[in-house]
Amino acid sequence: MQIKSAEFIMSNSDVAKCPKDRLPEYAFIGRSNVGKSSLINMLMQRKSLAKTSGRPGKTQLINHFLVNKNWYLVDLPGYGYARVSKSAKKTFQKFITDYFSKREQLVMAFVLVDCRHEPQPIDLEFMHWMGENQIPFGIVFTKADKLKPNALKRNIEAYSKKMLETWEEMPLYFATSASNTLGRDELLRYIDSVNQELHAS
Ligand code: GTP
Ligand code: MG
Repeated sequence: MQIKSAEFIMSNSDVAKCPKDRLPEYAFIGRSNVGKSSLINMLMQRKSLAKTSGRPGKTQLINHFLVNKNWYLVDLPGYGYARVSKSAKKTFQKFITDYFSKREQLVMAFVLVDCRHEPQPIDLEFMHWMGENQIPFGIVFTKADKLKPNALKRNIEAYSKKMLETWEEMPLYFATSASNTLGRDELLRYIDSVNQELHAS
């Protein structure tokens, strides 16, 4: 898919105030600092469309980006970062779970995990919650540039093995790097194919 345009539309913490048109949207979620905002910039080939930071907790709101004037990418705050204020410290902030359970336009979520780390309880818990709420998701392994290809393969295999302890099958997954654009074509091609299907139905 060619990216002809990508525009920031709005930020807010209330799912009821998100864009009202019925365009399909795809959301990026995961631990703080995993690389959600960087992945959006990589996909859109824009340096700072979504705000990134070396310090966790940068993205604080639900951010809608309109792509090619016909679908949205959604950048969300990370979970699992202990240094945010006490009131926002609940494991998964309410407006995030609200977003996922109420947003009818959401076609699919991508749960980002750092490819260098072993499966983390908080991510497994989040995916479990998504499953219980019947919200379709895929896994995106981030920061693949930090590992040699063999180590990446090994870690993804270990992740799949862990997932298969509780899931019937490994969800759809992508290996990506915001630094070297690994996974960009695959991810965009996948989103494009889903958009086409939606269009046809
Ligand atoms: P929050 O908004 O705080 O939840 O974080 P986020 O998940 O949006 O992470 P963000 O995109 O801000 O990136 C966090 C840090 O990881 C930044 O320093 C990025 O430069 C770095 N980073 C993100 N993706 C990659 C990647 O693919 N490779 C490498 N090497 N660094 C990355
Ligand atoms: Mg962010």
